[in-house]
Amino acid sequence: MKAVPVNDLPVSVQLNVPDGTFTPCIEMTSRKVSDLAMMFADQKAVEDLIKSGDPEVYQIRYYPFQTKNSDMALGVTMILPGKVGNEYFMTKGHFHEADNQPEIYHCVQGEGVLQMMTIDGEYVAAPWVKDTITHIPPHYAHRVINTGSVPLVFVASFHIAAGHVYGPIEKKGFKYIIVEKDGKPQEVLSPKWA
Ligand SMILES: [Fe+2]
Repeated sequence: MKAVPVNDLPVSVQLNVPDGTFTPCIEMTSRKVSDLAMMFADQKAVEDLIKSGDPEVYQIRYYPFQTKNSDMALGVTMILPGKVGNEYFMTKGHFHEADNQPEIYHCVQGEGVLQMMTIDGEYVAAPWVKDTITHIPPHYAHRVINTGSVPLVFVASFHIAAGHVYGPIEKKGFKYIIVEKDGKPQEVLSPKWA
């Protein structure tokens, strides 16, 4: 995450909900199917999508509110509607590097699921609709799945000191994946955990 100068004065940014943009924005990261290839169960579908143009899955915008004595940050994520095989588009998911760091997620548009899981596989899924707000306690990895037909937009509030750890999720993913079955989202055991 890009650093900004320390600023002890109040700061506001303006969110544009439909596309998850805000002003001013200092950094945007885009993740495509190829960036998340190892996260999806159907590797044949991953390859086919990459060959056919490698579609974007989500965008994240950050804003760090760094003062002399505090380090809050804002992250706004917009997950496009879509699937890899029958598995819905989702964020990569991460643990926090600092094990005393929680986070608050606020879904401002769309519908989906916030999955949370400890390193030992204790799993909690929060069904999400517009304006569901979830506190993610320390020790729970977290990722968001868009099961709807419009972009899912959520706002994350966290401390910069929390940091990100992707390794365990890259290796084994979450215990459950969310797939479309008979036109509806369904939670099934991940093949990596079976
Ligand atoms: Fe986080």
